[in-house]
Amino acid sequence: MQFNTELIHSSYDHNEHNRALMPPIYQNSMFAMHEIGEPIPFKYSRLANPTRKTLEDTIAALEQGTHGFAFASGIAGIDVIFRTILRPNDTIVAVSDIYGGSYDLLTQVYAPWSVNVIFADLTQPEKLDEILANHQVKLLWLETPSNPLLRLVDIETLAAKAKAHGAWVGIDNTFATPYLQNPLALGCDIVFHSATKYLGGHSDVLIGVAAVKDENLAKSLNDMLIMAGAIASPMDCWLVLRGIKTLAVRMERHCQNARELALRLQNHPAVEKVFYPALPEHEHHELAKRQMRDFGGVVSIYLKNNSIQAANTVIKNLKMVCMASSLGGVESLVNHSYTQSHSGMSPEVKNSLGIREGLLRFSVGIEHIDDIYADINHALNQTL
Ligand SMILES: Cc1ncc(COP(=O)(O)O)c(C=O)c1O
Repeated sequence: MQFNTELIHSSYDHNEHNRALMPPIYQNSMFAMHEIGEPIPFKYSRLANPTRKTLEDTIAALEQGTHGFAFASGIAGIDVIFRTILRPNDTIVAVSDIYGGSYDLLTQVYAPWSVNVIFADLTQPEKLDEILANHQVKLLWLETPSNPLLRLVDIETLAAKAKAHGAWVGIDNTFATPYLQNPLALGCDIVFHSATKYLGGHSDVLIGVAAVKDENLAKSLNDMLIMAGAIASPMDCWLVLRGIKTLAVRMERHCQNARELALRLQNHPAVEKVFYPALPEHEHHELAKRQMRDFGGVVSIYLKNNSIQAANTVIKNLKMVCMASSLGGVESLVNHSYTQSHSGMSPEVKNSLGIREGLLRFSVGIEHIDDIYADINHALNQTL
C-alpha cells in the first residue's frame, strides 16, 4: 500500500468490530472475564484498550515500526520514554534547540534526579564524536526540524554514531510527521510525536504517540506506560485516528502554503530573515532535500524591529491568524517563542539559540494562501 492509502486503511479490520466502518470508541474501563485466568486480550483500559490499540498499531505501521504507544499528552510520552531508559548518573545528549517543554523536563526534573543532561548543537555531526568519546551516553534525543528556527540535523549519521557507542536513539518527529520523514528507517530506535499537532490536526486533542521496532524496548516502554498510567483516553485516540485519515492532504497543503508564504515574506520590508528549509539559502536546505519528502508547515521570521513591542504589534493586528501556543492544526497560528514555548529558558540561553524578541513562528494552516498572506502582510506593515 502507498503511504496515503495506509493512512486510511491500515491497522483496522471492521470485521473484528461488528463491521463498524470507523473504529468504535471503547469508552469503558474494564472487560468481562468468564473464569479465573481467562486469557482475554483486553482486561482493564489502563493496560490496553481496543481504540488505543488501533491508534498504536496505526502509528507503528506509519512509522515502519512494530509496536506503537499512545500517551496522555506529548510531554507525558517523552517522560515515559526518558524514564524507561534513564537512571541516575546516566547521560542523555539532546539537541540544543529542543522543544521548550522537553528542555524544562530535562533541566527541572531529570537533572535534579542526577541524570547528566548535555545539550549540544549537532548540526555538525562531528560534534557528537567528542561527546561520545568523553561520556557513556545512554540516550541521544533528536528533534528535526527544530522549533522554532527549523534547524535540521542529519538523522542517519547521528544515529549511526550513537548506536556504535551503544546508546539508544530517540527522536521527536512532531514537526515532520510520518508523511515527511520516517526516522526508524534512518536508524533511530524510538520515534515520538506530539499528536496534539499535525497527526490530530484539528486543535481539539492533547496526546502523544511513539513507535519502536525493538521487541525488548517495546516491552519496557509498555511496562512503564501502564505502570505510570500515562495512557491516552479512548476518545482522544479516536480523534487522532480520524485526523490521521486526512494527514496526507493536509500536509500537502500545509507545505504548499508554507513555501509560498516564506517566498512572499522574503520580500517584505518589515522582515529581516525568513526561516524555511525549502529556501535555497536556508542553512540546511540540502539536508532537508535529502532527508525529508517536503519541507513542512512552519515558517519563522526575524522582524527588522527586534523587540517584543514590534512582535506584539504584529500579533495584535492579525485578524485571522491567531496567537496560540501550538501548531499543526488546519488554522494558521502565530507563536512568540521568546515568551511562549521557550519562556522557561533564560534570556542568555534563548539568545545563544537565536530565539530573539522579534522572532515570530507561524504554523501555516490550510486556508487560502492569499488570505493568510493578506492578514500577515497587513499586520507586518504596522511595524514600519
Ligand atoms: C516538538 C514538540 N514536542 C513535544 C511537544 C509536547 O507535546 P504536548 O503539548 O502534546 O504535551 C510539543 C508541544 O508543543 C512540541 O511542539
